[in-house]
Amino acid sequence: MKNYRIALLPGDGIGSEVMEAAWPVLQTVAERQGFSLEGDWLPWSCDYYLKHGTMMPADGVEQLRAFDAIYLGAVGLPATVPDHVSLRELLLAIRQGLDLSVNARPHRLLAGVKGPLRTDRPFDILCIRENTEGEYAGAGGRVHRGGELEVAVETAIFTRAGVERVLRHGFEQARLRGGKLASVTKSNAQRHSMVFWDEMTDRVAADYPDVAVTRYHVDAIAARMITHPETLDVVVASNLFGDILTDIGAAIQGGLGFAASANINPAGGVPGMFEPVHGSAPDIMGLGLANPLATLWAGALMLRHLGEIAAAEALMAAIEKVTATGAGTPDMGGDLSTTQLAAAVTAAL
Ligand code: NAD
Ligand code: IPM
Ligand code: MN
Repeated sequence: MKNYRIALLPGDGIGSEVMEAAWPVLQTVAERQGFSLEGDWLPWSCDYYLKHGTMMPADGVEQLRAFDAIYLGAVGLPATVPDHVSLRELLLAIRQGLDLSVNARPHRLLAGVKGPLRTDRPFDILCIRENTEGEYAGAGGRVHRGGELEVAVETAIFTRAGVERVLRHGFEQARLRGGKLASVTKSNAQRHSMVFWDEMTDRVAADYPDVAVTRYHVDAIAARMITHPETLDVVVASNLFGDILTDIGAAIQGGLGFAASANINPAGGVPGMFEPVHGSAPDIMGLGLANPLATLWAGALMLRHLGEIAAAEALMAAIEKVTATGAGTPDMGGDLSTTQLAAAVTAAL
């Protein structure tokens, strides 16, 4: 029987609640489809930091290379560890350390889910977010101290290879989907990086004459995602712009409790990391209120990436069988707990 080794990183806050609810569902899917998932729970988190002084062991990223995939809950507990420490040292360190250059985030309404938009035209957006450089490069920035002259510098880095690979992945996905690609910049204000991004879009587009490309400024596409989301297919954006647009994507699909993401290295050779888009939600932690569907959907993205297409489809079908009934956690207008909703998905398998 085929067996996959999965690194399980529950992280902080509701991260562990959604992971503990979702993991048994994935194991049931695997069992039914004739393969097995072997999970290693890794306690890397803010609690780990308080004990060890680091968010993960020094060779943490190297340890992760041995797995077939990484399944992550959420990181961050700002009451104990500053966010710029916990996120930089764990989540962003894994994305950058494994060179997971693409962060793919699907946005559509699951069966029966009513989003907040007035439009009832169905939308199906795949946001492809650059995931290792850009505004998150983290290089060269500092605060120059000195009274009234204090100045903070944060450097965004856009390499030709980095921009090209994320755009190329976007074009490949557009070919498999609706044949449309939106390239997002702010090239009317950012005259170096974003003009370079536009140039790279034109260069890569030349290899995909069958894909229709539209350039959008990030402000305009943010509005379009709300007024005309059905006009968008694949959306490719830089790290920070993609971060913001995918919270809008989450909002229009019913909330952060639904949005899933796949961090992958299109060149292969390293495990992908699959996680909900949301964070550790300290405001609801420990209450059983967290919606596990984003994490389950991320699990389906993981199964698909592992090549277990039938399992991924069975899991999505079970999720939608449940959402179609109107059952859900409080954020969905329902009264189920995190574990009850996950159990309903298992029952629907
Ligand atoms: P958040 O996503 O944790 O929460 C935003 C709001 O959405 C909160 O009101 C929360 O209750 C709600 N929410 C989020 N997930 C939900 C779910 N599954 N079900 C129901 N409601 C849900 O964002 P935040 O409050 O800005 O950040 C909290 C912490 O998480 C911070 O430390 C932040 O840095 C971190 N964070 C981590 C990740 C990650 O690990 N990928 C992502 C975003 C934020
Ligand atoms: C996300 C999160 C992270 C990001 C934070 C927590 C660093 O918001 O995965 O969307 O900005 O990438
Ligand atoms: Mn985000």
